[in-house]
Amino acid sequence: MSGHLAGIDYHRRLLADEVRTNAFREAIAASVGPDDVVVDIGAGTGILSLFAARAGARKVYAVESTAVAHLARRIVADNGLDGTITVLHGDARTVTLPEPATVLVSECLGNFLMSDGMIGTLESCRRLLAPGARIIPTAVDLLLAPGSVGPLMGQLSAWTDPLYGFRFDACTGSAENDIYQAHVPPACLATPGVRVARWELTHPLPGGPWAAQWTLPEDKLIDGAVGWFVAHLAPDHTLDTGPGVTTHWGQTLFPLPQTQVDAGDRMRFELDVKLGHDDLAAYHWSGSFSAPDGPPCLEFERGQDLRFTPWNAVDRSV
Ligand SMILES: C[S@@+](CC[C@H](N)C(=O)[O-])C[C@H]1O[C@@H](n2cnc3c(N)ncnc32)[C@H](O)[C@@H]1O
Repeated sequence: MSGHLAGIDYHRRLLADEVRTNAFREAIAASVGPDDVVVDIGAGTGILSLFAARAGARKVYAVESTAVAHLARRIVADNGLDGTITVLHGDARTVTLPEPATVLVSECLGNFLMSDGMIGTLESCRRLLAPGARIIPTAVDLLLAPGSVGPLMGQLSAWTDPLYGFRFDACTGSAENDIYQAHVPPACLATPGVRVARWELTHPLPGGPWAAQWTLPEDKLIDGAVGWFVAHLAPDHTLDTGPGVTTHWGQTLFPLPQTQVDAGDRMRFELDVKLGHDDLAAYHWSGSFSAPDGPPCLEFERGQDLRFTPWNAVDRSV
């Protein structure tokens, strides 16, 4: 992917997300100094480059593939920083810099990390770095927790009633196999989140499946798994996008068969992600519920099917 075409309102929403933007601002202020050459991958309006210049960077290269680069150039000039920041309108995967960067900064984070296709892009950008260069973020953790989130996934039942006098229930199977974004109140979670993967930005993202097991602490209806990420931007600077934190990402919901569990029951969950062409992520999730010390009594298997072939969620009582 070379950056999706987005109108200015996409960038306004990013800037309006103060949790996100302030976390990067503070991490950049703590990490960048006067000897630094910074490369900002996926610069958008240039906000992270402006922060780097304000932090005293000697030079900043702002790389943006879409036409918002033209606006970034004007914003940089309007703020009197065109002596420090050079906007490069091009694809970060092929861009070259006149000098190696000592800091790479990128807000490359999609919903549940994956969806913006930036992982491959960032891996290819290590070639732009001087030995020992810092990367912001340094690492990103993926967390999952089971929850009672059905009311937050109204989209699931949207297909069962006729729409404009026509039946659309053919879509129900696809809906049960899709993922949803919502702001999940912490009380909806059945357990705290567990980390299922860590992406160190100096290394490739570890491949799935990513597995979690929980012993459920209380009687509760479980109907989804909730995923989010925590980005470690710099020492002592963390961006947590979990339930209860309001960011534009919210959390990612993976629908599950509605299951009334009792305290002590166990749940296993495995999530796999496959990056297809264009780096689009398709998720596949499976697992089971079991009584304490018993074998699984319900197994489930679901997965996004972006080609809309006939496919239904597999929920098996065993
Ligand atoms: C999530 S936005 C972040 C924008 C800005 N850095 C900020 O924090 O507000 C990611 C940006 O990366 C750009 N992008 C995605 N893939 C790219 C690529 N291969 N090369 C350059 N820019 C890319 C997108 O067009 C988008 O503007």
